[in-house]
Amino acid sequence: MKHIDVKEIICNKDYIGQEVTVCGWVRTSRNSKSVAFVEMNDGTSLKNIQIVIEKGDGDFKEPRVGMSLKVIGKVVEGRNNTVEINTSPDGITVLGDCPTDYPLQKKGHSLEFLRSIPHLRSRTNTFNAVWHVRSVLAAALHRYFQNNNYVYINTPLITGSDCEGAGEMFQVTTNGYTTEFKSEEDYYANDFFGRKAGLSVSGQLEGEMAATAMGKIYTFGPSFRAENSNTPKHLAEFWHIEPEVAFAELDDVIEIAEDMLKYVIGQLLELCPTEIEFFDAHFEKGLKARLEELISHDFGRVTYTEAIKLLQESGENFVYPVEWGCDLQTEHERYISEKVFKKAVFVTDYPKEIKSFYMKQNPDGKTVAAVDLLVPGVGEIIGGSEREYDYDKLVAAMEERKMNLELYSDYLDLRKFGSVPHGGFGLGFERLIMYTTGMSNIRDVILYPRTVGSIR
Ligand code: 4AD
Repeated sequence: MKHIDVKEIICNKDYIGQEVTVCGWVRTSRNSKSVAFVEMNDGTSLKNIQIVIEKGDGDFKEPRVGMSLKVIGKVVEGRNNTVEINTSPDGITVLGDCPTDYPLQKKGHSLEFLRSIPHLRSRTNTFNAVWHVRSVLAAALHRYFQNNNYVYINTPLITGSDCEGAGEMFQVTTNGYTTEFKSEEDYYANDFFGRKAGLSVSGQLEGEMAATAMGKIYTFGPSFRAENSNTPKHLAEFWHIEPEVAFAELDDVIEIAEDMLKYVIGQLLELCPTEIEFFDAHFEKGLKARLEELISHDFGRVTYTEAIKLLQESGENFVYPVEWGCDLQTEHERYISEKVFKKAVFVTDYPKEIKSFYMKQNPDGKTVAAVDLLVPGVGEIIGGSEREYDYDKLVAAMEERKMNLELYSDYLDLRKFGSVPHGGFGLGFERLIMYTTGMSNIRDVILYPRTVGSIR
């Protein structure tokens, strides 16, 4: 169906005076005897285009919210530097009618209500803006890595090894429930892969294999976590960007993370000014200034040990008690980034017990070369580390955790054959979108959220 995007007509004054064909869904309509005003949108633009229908010849009688139309009409200048399309009933074709029980009859529905209609919520301004930001950020991330000599790698989604070792893997099986298996081993031996398999929580382990050949790689794909945490920032299926770099130490990893974020947020400000203004007006006052500030200043940096001291001396009444060795909770992360640093801050050198087996062990014997990036409003959006590249130390850390070394033989081989210092990080894509839009619930930045107890 030959037609012109609403965005093109709104942005390009050259169309004024021309006859055009546009398609879209009716957002609002006002009808009188002689004329009807229809606000229509095809999704390409946050702004609607107004269609003015002079009543006269033709079958088209009444525009209804939600119906889809093809409109042939003349582009004219409207009020306040806008453009609109003048037509008559003859110029309107109803592509799909819409009954009055269409749930988006009026504006201003709550986000909770919109979550109950995920198949329709994209037709609202809020979700239109979120999906545009998501798309522009994804392209900017690819551009950043492609411009800096990284190779885009696709790591497997079905895996036999748990990267984070946190026991949060969804199992992949073709064996339904039956009592015929003699033991757990028997059950897995008879399953599709002949052993236990799951959905990957991270592409890092395979990413390391590629990085120790290609030098610099990144992944951009879904990760799956059966975390039983029903919070506004956890999904069971989230999108994960994981760069991995050979010949890189912790400081290099931190530098890359900061550079990458500043680049993609700079691109967002440049390419999505309307969306950022929309979020600033409706979801977080001062969002634009906050993002501008982020890209023009250095991020903060603090060690875990210093952070614990800051928390203990804060005088705050935290729900989770703070002592050296504890995992930082969102309330702690937000205190550090919002109250102490008032900006994005890297926390480094965590106790080895609360971090994964693969992280480089520091000389103090107690901490590892890990880094998390905490940002105001969200908490952690990046987790990364320098990797342990010494074979014996890595094996010792895995044995301490009682891991099955056989499952990680490829990974261990990397430490045998030309091992090099290397490191990388994982950026949670939805958390980045939350941070850059001010949306406070992760369920509102992904098309179909998968969370504990909820799938559709
Ligand atoms: O800190 P995490 O667990 O680190 C890893 O997975 C490493 N393998 C990354 C690496 O070094 N290559 O996860 C990285 C990021 C988190 O900071 C967070 O932004 C996001 O992934 N994330 C989640 N996002 C949404 N829902 C969840 N359940 C998430 N779990 C982690």
